[in-house]
Amino acid sequence: MSEPAPAAFPQNFTFRVDATDGTARTGAISMPRGVIRTPAFMPVGTAATVKAMYPGQVRDLGADVVLGNTYHLMLRPGPERMARLGGLHHFMNWPHPILTDSGGFQVMSLSALRKLDEQGVTFRSHVDGSTHHMSPERSIEIQGLLGSDIQMQLDECVRLPADHDTIEKAMRLSLRWAERCRVQFGEQPGKAMFGIVQGGDVPALRVESARALVDLDLKGYAIGGLAVGEPQDVMLAMIETVAPHLPQAKPRYLMGVGTPDDLMRSVARGIDMFDCVMPTRAGRHGLAYTRHGRINLRNARHGEDTRPLDEASSCPAARDYSRAYLHHLVRTDEILGMMLLTWNNLAYYQELMAGMRAAIAAGRLADFCDETRDAWAKAEA
Ligand code: GUN
Repeated sequence: MSEPAPAAFPQNFTFRVDATDGTARTGAISMPRGVIRTPAFMPVGTAATVKAMYPGQVRDLGADVVLGNTYHLMLRPGPERMARLGGLHHFMNWPHPILTDSGGFQVMSLSALRKLDEQGVTFRSHVDGSTHHMSPERSIEIQGLLGSDIQMQLDECVRLPADHDTIEKAMRLSLRWAERCRVQFGEQPGKAMFGIVQGGDVPALRVESARALVDLDLKGYAIGGLAVGEPQDVMLAMIETVAPHLPQAKPRYLMGVGTPDDLMRSVARGIDMFDCVMPTRAGRHGLAYTRHGRINLRNARHGEDTRPLDEASSCPAARDYSRAYLHHLVRTDEILGMMLLTWNNLAYYQELMAGMRAAIAAGRLADFCDETRDAWAKAEA
């Protein structure tokens, strides 16, 4: 299936829903740097690179936007240096839209000795142990210096399971930080700042968070604090709780998710954007996502398997190399193994998103998802 290439880029940040199928939607987010076809999967380019991929390759797979991380880029090369070098788009040779995460989540998962208070987060760099402070205002300032098109509020993400009091405090702090980020961001017609709904696995806190953020009239809304240790049914229940409280006319972004199955179930519940390290990280660890399900190339049973990962794929990595060769590259820690599997995995994720967009437009998303799952199950049998 081929979608028409987006043509003219408007000066303002806008979102348009073209078709719905139940609660699922397909449409486009437009901004001066380009158009993001939704639902969209954003490859993760943490440190100004989608690891093991050329930017042109990422684009050719159909990615309209990549994600960058404030936390990593503020440590290296530093936001002021990035600005002097012409901004992140120029730096990494990716002229298309970029979304940046705000840093709070990465501080919590990566840095040592972090301290969080009303003013922001203080943390030790995982690179050299140096101490840094990031306020909500500084996070937005850094994202501006990077030149990010879609900037995220600073928030506090709580790992689950957690007690009610911890979840509530983090949600309320995140709301106060959302207001400060909004003031710092001000009016930037071609760019957007998104709020992040928190509230853990407590429906009432999720609803309160969503309503308060909607009152701030932001350009888009993310759902954070999911895929942090809870089962999939809890994650899906939280999406179902939150989505009805978010405006139909604004994009909804589920942060840090997920497996191909997570993507299909979340799109069906009205999510428009995703990011996840899964396809890229798994690719560097010998795992391939394909139409035939997930394949662990490290496994000895692939040692003499002359079949490619997927003979019908449009991606050369999936089509032109045997599983036996990929097995060999993975077992010998060859760089090409990581490159080919990352390429294959991002191709599969982008094909899945394109498939879902077309299915929603045709009013057959449920059938598409059933067929996709059937093909995985058939390969396992
Ligand atoms: N990435 C995955 N989950 C989250 C979250 O809750 N907040 C932020 N800022 N980034 C995330």
